[in-house]
Amino acid sequence: MDKYIINGGNYLNGSIKISGAKNAAVAILPAVLLCDETCRIENIPCISDVNLIINILKSIGSSIKVINKNTLEINCKNVGSYTLSSAQTSGMRASSYFIGALLGRFNRARVAPPGGCDFGVRPIDQHIKGFEALGARVIYDNAMVDAKATELVGSSIYLDKVSVGATINIMLAAVKAKGLTIIENAAKEPHVVDLATFLNSMGADIMGAGTNVIKIRGVDYLHSSTYSIIPDQIEAGTYMAAVAAAGGNVVIENVIPKHLESIISKLTEAGVTIEEYEESVRVVSDKKLVATNLLTMPHPGFPTDMQPQMTTLLALADGVSIVNEGVWDNRFRYINQLILMGADITVDGKTAIVKGVKHFNSAPVCATDLRAGAALVIAALATEGVSEISNIHYIERGYEDIIEKLKNVGADIKRIYVPDPNKVDIAL
Ligand code: EPZ
Repeated sequence: MDKYIINGGNYLNGSIKISGAKNAAVAILPAVLLCDETCRIENIPCISDVNLIINILKSIGSSIKVINKNTLEINCKNVGSYTLSSAQTSGMRASSYFIGALLGRFNRARVAPPGGCDFGVRPIDQHIKGFEALGARVIYDNAMVDAKATELVGSSIYLDKVSVGATINIMLAAVKAKGLTIIENAAKEPHVVDLATFLNSMGADIMGAGTNVIKIRGVDYLHSSTYSIIPDQIEAGTYMAAVAAAGGNVVIENVIPKHLESIISKLTEAGVTIEEYEESVRVVSDKKLVATNLLTMPHPGFPTDMQPQMTTLLALADGVSIVNEGVWDNRFRYINQLILMGADITVDGKTAIVKGVKHFNSAPVCATDLRAGAALVIAALATEGVSEISNIHYIERGYEDIIEKLKNVGADIKRIYVPDPNKVDIAL
């Protein structure tokens, strides 16, 4: 129930250090189930989605040693359960990775369906297609995904749709299967590559991650590894868009510029100056933004997880921009909140017509999902006056220390506690 209070209009100046990638961390942590030795994972973002994954690992018997806020040592040798309830899995999409990881460990998995941000239907038919191709019998009755195999045998799998989750889940199930698995039409996102690199550091034999054909030769045993998660491409892009919209001069540190190519290209088209360095980018904006068109696509296309943030910036640009959401059926729910702040946007299915306005008006708004919440933070930072953002739990799923990072570059932002009116405190 807590809120952010943002007194916007300040230019942002200074530097922001990017944390580890959420979508890599939520895949790499379940992957430790494929090994019975201690793995040390570093640069883990301290965010609520990662905490949910850690709690699941503990609940089935993993021993987890906290080295520091971003480093864990995990040992799964005593994990004996392959069942996860909806109470454990319904909080996020990435809980689906436990199907592939538990299947890879036990040839067995009973995992309640995942939750996750609401962009319309989020099926797992391609995940199941992959598990069945590897020889598993999968029963999915909407209450439970029940997968069972006498043994997993490598196979060729063509994904009908490019799917990050299916690519990752099939990789987790295939890495210790017998023989060769080929995933065709695979997702190429940086977090898919990071998982493959982590698994290979444990002794897996995966080739082609980052291309649309991934080959996995099953191995019998995976050993311990010390691994550092890549920086978060979307967190970096989010802060770049914030500087672009609010104005300022900020160095975004601890990034892999290659992962930001499409974001840098679009921000440059919109009139933002970006200087690239080895492990950082400098973003300079005088708030004079120009319209440009946007189409989100699987990597290396412009990432759908940056669409709300970029659309918000274009809503403040000079001219009309056309935004096409190429991945999700319904990822424009947040636009109603931007309209409350004075945006002039018309949505027609998977297309938004964005007519730039000179400025927004501060207002109380409500986050509808993780990246929508980030977009509202950007809108409030760019707008004179005090805006309130509620439902900030969505935002804190994916942005470590967002308040501190923004305050460090001059943003006037604070978090306030709002008691839950529906919560009855019975004095016992
Ligand atoms: C991952 O979700 C990310 N989540 C999402 O980021 C991201 O938006 C998405 O990939 C696309 O990049 C995590 O990594 C935890 P998909 P995922 O499977 O795996 C369809 C964020 O903000 N599809 O690549 O669920 C699906 O409906 C989150 O960090 C099927 O039809 O996405 C969609 O149209 C939000 N059948 C398209 O494929 C399937 O079995 C891409 O989905 C699977 C997917």
